[in-house]
Amino acid sequence: MSEPMDLEKLATESKVVAAGRPAKQPDGALNPPIALNSTFHEGGPVGYGRYGNETWSALEEAISVLEGGKTLLFSSGMAAISAVFSLLPEGAVIVAANNGYQGTTTLLKKLHESEKLKVRFVNLANTDECIAAIPGAQMLYLESPLNPLLEVVDLPKIIAAGKAAGCGVAVDNTLATPLLQNPLALGADISIHSVTKYLSGHSDLILGSLTTNDQALYGRLEQSRRYGGAIAGPFEAWIALRGLRTFAIRMQRSQENAMELANRLSKDSRISKVRYPGLPTDSYHGLAKSFMKGFGAMISFDVNASVEQLDLMCNSSKLITNATSLGGVESIWERRRRWATESATVPENLIRFSVGIENVDDLWADIQQALNVAKIK
Ligand SMILES: Cc1ncc(COP(=O)(O)O)c(C=O)c1O
Repeated sequence: MSEPMDLEKLATESKVVAAGRPAKQPDGALNPPIALNSTFHEGGPVGYGRYGNETWSALEEAISVLEGGKTLLFSSGMAAISAVFSLLPEGAVIVAANNGYQGTTTLLKKLHESEKLKVRFVNLANTDECIAAIPGAQMLYLESPLNPLLEVVDLPKIIAAGKAAGCGVAVDNTLATPLLQNPLALGADISIHSVTKYLSGHSDLILGSLTTNDQALYGRLEQSRRYGGAIAGPFEAWIALRGLRTFAIRMQRSQENAMELANRLSKDSRISKVRYPGLPTDSYHGLAKSFMKGFGAMISFDVNASVEQLDLMCNSSKLITNATSLGGVESIWERRRRWATESATVPENLIRFSVGIENVDDLWADIQQALNVAKIK
């Protein structure tokens, strides 16, 4: 059998295929087992199913290789995010987005209202506003691109300002993925994923992860998972690892489709604004190009139409699914303000579009027929 290879030296496309495999041995399996155990014979390092699991370890190892740190898997993206906030002492000051993923903003609002944390909500896309809020904060909680407005946050500058002020820095890397940016390499302490999205990629499971290269922080987060109990199911971990094998190729294809559709949408007079950092006309294009390796596969666009017309449009698509979530092989869109918790800064006529891997002309034809059914002119 050949010697194990140095995964760190591989490109992302190879890492996703090679990482998280069992050690090579004659007749050994290529894939980890789905380890269905709540307990183990005494004397080993794990001991109990809430403390560790062979299938989680395989997925954690693979995400670790992609993110450049050590990973903990959680039962959902929100469970991972909650574990990060659980590290802060009561009343600690945290700087976070007023224009980010609505699940995180809602959780932070609740923590603020109950005085567990003091949250300084800022527009993360405004670098000066964000940096001005840092003094006295214990944590800087970032997300980029922001969901759903797809504004790009100046991660290199803001992370550096946070670290210089002695702040812990966490970044939600769900939309960009490690194919496009590595928060830890930019100096962040924690990189977060809703593994539900691009990493697993098939809209068939809910999982989350945290990666850090700080051993003491890893220990505290592990304790939070162990006693908070938000652990992953081994089956979900196994399916996610299987999905991860094609992550790079799915992301590349979705991104190509997104670039093409953003271009076509921007030439359509019924669309008043296309928000995609890949468009040279987008306000965030230059910033995205300066530190990201691509522009991602999410497009948000504003349509010259009423809410009723837009709801009809979303319901009239045949190939594109009217649903929430993102990052799957299938294209999904929704009118984002249908959610009561969505930020008021998101226009009522904004459609968030997670572009999948289908044929781009089929997607374009579906968009056209849905706009026509809704009589959008
Ligand atoms: C950017 C971002 N972060 C976190 C989450 C939460 O992840 P989960 O649904 O896996 O709990 C989501 C879910 O949509 C998201 O879009």
